[in-house]
Amino acid sequence: MISGKTIVAGVVGRPVAHSLSPLLHNAWLAAAGIDGVYVAFAPDAYGFERFADGMRGGAIRGVNVTVPFKEAALKVADRATPRAEAAGAANVLLFEPDGRTLADNTDGLGLLSAFAAQAPGWRADAGPVTVLGAGGAARGALAALLEHGTPRIFVINRTIRKADMLAEAMGSRVSALPFNHAAGVLRDATAVINATTVGLNDEGELPIPLSLTRETTVVMDMVYKPLETAFLRQARALGRPTVDGLEMLLGQARPAFEMFYGQPPLADVDARGLAMRALKS
Ligand code: ATR
Repeated sequence: MISGKTIVAGVVGRPVAHSLSPLLHNAWLAAAGIDGVYVAFAPDAYGFERFADGMRGGAIRGVNVTVPFKEAALKVADRATPRAEAAGAANVLLFEPDGRTLADNTDGLGLLSAFAAQAPGWRADAGPVTVLGAGGAARGALAALLEHGTPRIFVINRTIRKADMLAEAMGSRVSALPFNHAAGVLRDATAVINATTVGLNDEGELPIPLSLTRETTVVMDMVYKPLETAFLRQARALGRPTVDGLEMLLGQARPAFEMFYGQPPLADVDARGLAMRALKS
């Protein structure tokens, strides 16, 4: 249904063709009978600013932003929510009718809603958390965990300098460690979160001995392609509760949908099933 009033939103990234967001948002639009559409944009690597400028004034309602433009999205915005500022990145841009651009970040909500859905007994404030990686995804996770009271976070990264810089930026509750010191912090972790790209497309393996964690330690992987990464497989073989990256993707998409189209997605759409089928094809 396309009319003179169709609300247009989308996702901007490069590459973007593999994004599951158009599938999810358009399924939610169709189910609710909303006069809206959700499309994908892939400006060239240096063309993000021009793209965002062109949308000012409400040519379209807004976009989700994905790799590699999340930091640039925060920079081009006139205003940003505190959670986008804390994450140092935006995954949502809204183009206000008055010409201003608002940046938000729902990745943290996505992370926490994924834990709530798949590891409902886990609490962010119950104890230390170990985060693997020091890029944008890790920073977003740190911001959400700190906001929700995690008392101590250990950031483990291959390039220790990047972990040090991130820890420095995020404050006294965050410490940096190299991978070969992970053993010392796994025992106390309430959760271990993979925010690196290791495991994407079944490439690479994380040198993290999950057998050192407690039976109750929740193991989370932001990578959702494949849905069961080698890391989650290791966790499940040990009987650890797990949380997958697809649930996080869904958890960031739902609040973004509401911002674009003015109402939350209907709960009776099997968005997870849709996405799983698309991942398999
Ligand atoms: P994102 O925005 O998704 O976080 P990124 O900023 O490119 O992406 O960060 C990728 C993360 O995955 C980094 O923490 C990176 O470690 P380095 O800082 O040492 O580069 C991590 N990563 C990527 N490939 C890795 C590998 N083979 N082994 C360990 N860590 C890896």
